[in-house]
Amino acid sequence: TSSVALIVSFAIGYLSGSVPYGLLLTRMAGLGDVRNIGSGNIGATNVLRTGNKKLAALTLLLDALKGMVPVMLARHFLGMDAAILAGLGAFLGHLYPAWLKFRGGKGVATFAGISLGYSWHVLAPFAIVWIAMAFIFRYSSLAALTASVVTTASVFYVGQTELGLLYVVLTVLVFWKHRQNISRLLSGNESRIGQKG
Ligand code: G3P
Repeated sequence: TSSVALIVSFAIGYLSGSVPYGLLLTRMAGLGDVRNIGSGNIGATNVLRTGNKKLAALTLLLDALKGMVPVMLARHFLGMDAAILAGLGAFLGHLYPAWLKFRGGKGVATFAGISLGYSWHVLAPFAIVWIAMAFIFRYSSLAALTASVVTTASVFYVGQTELGLLYVVLTVLVFWKHRQNISRLLSGNESRIGQKG
């Protein structure tokens, strides 16, 4: 794949990833700025703290699609190297959107969407671990942290080293973005799924 194709894939990924759906949807629904409630995050977990479940589900879906679509397009037209850069671009776009002074989300829904863009086999461990952990402990953040580590391990386990390196970067960024959640988990102050606060 040419370097131009790689740069274009990264840029398209970034543009797609940088659209803050949670912020746009809550504003359009007249719920104000989601950054002023709960954790202040623009993701589905925090949109749920507005009490609007449908809006939270839609945020989850759109934040996932914005990662999945560029990865699938790059993979189809340009190959795996381009798809890896499209995924990295979409993830960085969500975490660090230029339009929000680079203050974006924590990347969990986009992580899931990007994973489905590569393969159902990458999404499966993520989804299973997230759902199981969320069901048992009811902490969205803890579910995301564990699921991202297990997914990275499973990508290496099946021998996809290049993709695995991307997942190491994604997982480190997920942990970095969840640093306040991690302190709250450790001090017992993290709010549970659906809980305001
Ligand atoms: O999807 C982000 C989630 O893991 C944590 O969100 O709003 O509780 O910080 P929040």
